[in-house]
Amino acid sequence: MPTIAWPAGLAPVEDAKAYLLLNHGPTILISAAHGGQRNVMAAAWNTALDFSPAKVAVVIDKSTATRALVEASGCFAINVPCRAIADLSYTVGSISRRDVGDKFERCAIPHFGARAIDVPLVAGCVAWLECRVRPAPEIAHEYDLFFGEVLAAWADERIFRAGRWHFDDGPQELRTLHHTAGGQFFSPGEGLRASLLGASTAADSTPINKD
Ligand SMILES: Cc1cc2nc3c(=O)[nH]c(=O)nc-3n(C[C@H](O)[C@H](O)[C@H](O)COP(=O)(O)O)c2cc1C
Repeated sequence: MPTIAWPAGLAPVEDAKAYLLLNHGPTILISAAHGGQRNVMAAAWNTALDFSPAKVAVVIDKSTATRALVEASGCFAINVPCRAIADLSYTVGSISRRDVGDKFERCAIPHFGARAIDVPLVAGCVAWLECRVRPAPEIAHEYDLFFGEVLAAWADERIFRAGRWHFDDGPQELRTLHHTAGGQFFSPGEGLRASLLGASTAADSTPINKD
């Protein structure tokens, strides 16, 4: 393994901005409902955790109204928005139910009912994951982190089919939204197909993700 000199052109990133280096995955909308109340918020801090049974993790801050609904109902839905609903996605992440009341009504959000949980799904998104909370109260308290077991998942076939995204040949407006900062988003660009490095490197290991 060659050691090289410290590369030119590296700039330090301040602590409060370090998360942004990892944070440009898809922004999602978390919807939840309980006791006649419903809500939806944006969340850029999210990740898949396991293949099957599928599990996910999302950060839901204590200040959000959504969190109370998730904690009370034990359920939430992940809605994966796209370019076509960028303004709506940013808006529901910038106003709170505490201040504006029912965001579905206020923002005239078209929605339909989830199948496995009693939660509204946001129409116009490109994928949806219906989740049951896997309780981890100490972690939720300390890190605002919630784990979800995926009970059902759906996707718009125009952009996700045969087990993968089709950003290259799908409609532009269905590309997912990735937040960089301050309301600026990007969408996936041109795809590329990677190859495994030479035989000597790959000989004694099997790639984990062969799809
Ligand atoms: C692009 C974007 C990403 C966000 N990501 C998160 C997140 O990961 N976790 C979180 O708790 N809040 C996040 N927020 C903030 C919430 O969406 C925001 O506080 C929202 O108003 C909460 O709504 P509620 O109080 O009605 O639940 C994000 C906001 C935006 C605009």
